[in-house]
Amino acid sequence: MNVIIAENYDLLSKKAATIIATEMNEKPDGIFGFATGSSPVGTYKELIKMYEERIIDFSKITSFNLDEYIGLNKEHDQSYYYFMHENLFNHVNMREEYCNIPNGMADDMEAFCNEYENEMQKAGGIDLQILGIGPNGHIAFNEPTVYFPDKTHTVKLTDSTIEANARFFENKDMVPKEAVTMGIGSIMRAKKIVMVVNGKGKAEAVRRMLKEDVNPNVPASILRYHPNVTVILDKEAASLL
Ligand code: GLP
Repeated sequence: MNVIIAENYDLLSKKAATIIATEMNEKPDGIFGFATGSSPVGTYKELIKMYEERIIDFSKITSFNLDEYIGLNKEHDQSYYYFMHENLFNHVNMREEYCNIPNGMADDMEAFCNEYENEMQKAGGIDLQILGIGPNGHIAFNEPTVYFPDKTHTVKLTDSTIEANARFFENKDMVPKEAVTMGIGSIMRAKKIVMVVNGKGKAEAVRRMLKEDVNPNVPASILRYHPNVTVILDKEAASLL
């Protein structure tokens, strides 16, 4: 695992975007796993700049997003579908039909999860996965539990995640209680992983991910078993290491 400590969020975002851009140029038809949350917003801004400067091209890439709330439709401004379009897809030349985002409104969730997982494998698997981390050590919406879920599945969100994400909603009661998420296995099968983490609020999660035994109570700790992970931290997120 390669751990990089950047001076600030700006430099962290530039570093992450450079790694992603390099991959995009090496594999113009690559499969990219995108993440939501506030952490990668700066990275996406940098990617948009690089696209405008014609350094990168999104026209042939395929994307699979990590997760989505159950019960929010595409138009909801807190859906991850909306987030990805607002923060990246609407500003670059991604083809809509190649953007895959879990459908939080599927009638048959189990069938949807199987299909999403199969689509990812059929596409050849993810070349580069972008990740953030939750304050409780979750990745995507894989919450702390007693095992590492393998494939795309539905999950009940923990109180701590609902609390952490309440800042994006009118109030805590508006935060969906369930989500659909790639599994830990889906993430671990990506060929490369880049995690971005900023802020003091994540310092304890980062310490647990890197210093505690690998265990499903800190889902992100499994990344230490992946052969190609780069974790980019700002100074605050790294403050407990
Ligand atoms: C959410 C998402 C995760 C994200 C995490 C951190 O719950 N499901 O994919 O990494 O929270 O979000 P933020 O970057 O806003 O702190």
